[in-house]
Amino acid sequence: MDKLSITGGQPLHGRLRVSGAKNSTLPILAGTLLTEEPVLVSNAPHLHDVTTMIELLGCLGAEVVIDEKLNVEVCARSLGQLRAPYELVKTMRASFLVLGPLVAKYGAAEVSLPGGCAIGSRPVDQHLKGLEALGAQVVVTDGYVKAQAPNGLVGTDVYMDLVTVGGTENLMMAAALARGETRLHNCAREPEIVDLGNFLNTLGAEVDGHGTSTIVIQGKDKLHGGAFRVMPDRVEAGTYLIAAAATRGSVRLEDVDPETLGAVLEKLQMAGAEITYGEDWIELDMLGRRPLAVDIETSPYPGFPTDMQAQFMALNAIAEGTATISENIFENRFMHVQEINRLGANIELHGHSMAVVHGMKDLRAAPVMATDLRASSSLVIAALAAEGTTTIDRIYHIDRGYETIEEKLQQLGGAVQRIS
Ligand code: EPZ
Repeated sequence: MDKLSITGGQPLHGRLRVSGAKNSTLPILAGTLLTEEPVLVSNAPHLHDVTTMIELLGCLGAEVVIDEKLNVEVCARSLGQLRAPYELVKTMRASFLVLGPLVAKYGAAEVSLPGGCAIGSRPVDQHLKGLEALGAQVVVTDGYVKAQAPNGLVGTDVYMDLVTVGGTENLMMAAALARGETRLHNCAREPEIVDLGNFLNTLGAEVDGHGTSTIVIQGKDKLHGGAFRVMPDRVEAGTYLIAAAATRGSVRLEDVDPETLGAVLEKLQMAGAEITYGEDWIELDMLGRRPLAVDIETSPYPGFPTDMQAQFMALNAIAEGTATISENIFENRFMHVQEINRLGANIELHGHSMAVVHGMKDLRAAPVMATDLRASSSLVIAALAAEGTTTIDRIYHIDRGYETIEEKLQQLGGAVQRIS
């Protein structure tokens, strides 16, 4: 099992190109099932999760061709089967996003329940409630969701009980081929939702309001093929900005959209970072100063993203002062706390949703273990700020969401090696 060996204590300095967004690529690849014509998805990141989604499309019978730049061409002309097996769904929950497209296009689907994961139970009740509202018959047996809509889906009003990114995405894709108009209410407003809506419109769908809490979709009989470039990954970008801030360094990110990082940039400025940005670049400079502690409350977009809570905890661990971090989206997303404390941090947990971080002037290297994707990136940040050499075990978690992380950190002067 691969490990990362990181010798910290040096500021990161340099420039990086940000990869395409994992959390936009995954729903968009699922959306290629909505048409029988070829679809070219470019700027997809080279990540394990993307490979798993491509594997799933292949398993369903879609033809998938990948070129050397990892542009992915999908042609779902003649699917062999409409079943997404547990073996694939359990390794990557976003596989569940094939449910909406399969039911909408083929009138039937069997998709394994994704089950929980390290950060929480992560139910899919809103996905199923919405599909039933659109006219599908849905049963859950033997760990599988079996959905039927032999006469097709029919547009209607759908009121989600809570803000769910995946639920919004599954229902947008289902509604794209439903008869008539669908109005989705209480939608997630993440930039990845906007990207998906723009992608669907590239295929001839009629989606409006994506990025607001009400999305209106005029269903079409069929969608055509097309080509789409995935948006930059705002979570990868935020992670490297926080890493530069935690090591009192500076970084320039290229091919990034600052508009998608408003809450994060504001918190970094409050931590003492000097930030400038243009249309597709961001520069951060700590001017060699120790960060200041900053309180964090995670909430749905445009609030502070839960996917950057762990990374900011690593920053607060070495900041001046004490900060509280409240995790309001997932019920178990503090597993990085005990690992960061092994590096000499002073973080107190208060129940499942609040941590109090007393900033320490120094952290010291120690062996630690990754537990989930974003927790592992917080351990990388803490290790880069710690004196000595830290080894991080189980870094398969990190390979799910960060393309060539050691090369990118080496580009910034980080002393990072992968140990197989
Ligand atoms: C997406 O997960 C992202 N994954 C997550 O990123 C991200 O943390 C999350 O949105 C929140 O922003 C992808 O886009 C592939 P949700 P998703 O449905 O769609 C509850 C990463 O690190 N809920 O918005 O699964 C759920 O339990 C990953 O890249 C229900 O109760 O998240 C959670 O508490 C981690 N019923 C909350 O809503 C439902 O039917 C938000 O979940 C659906 C969700």
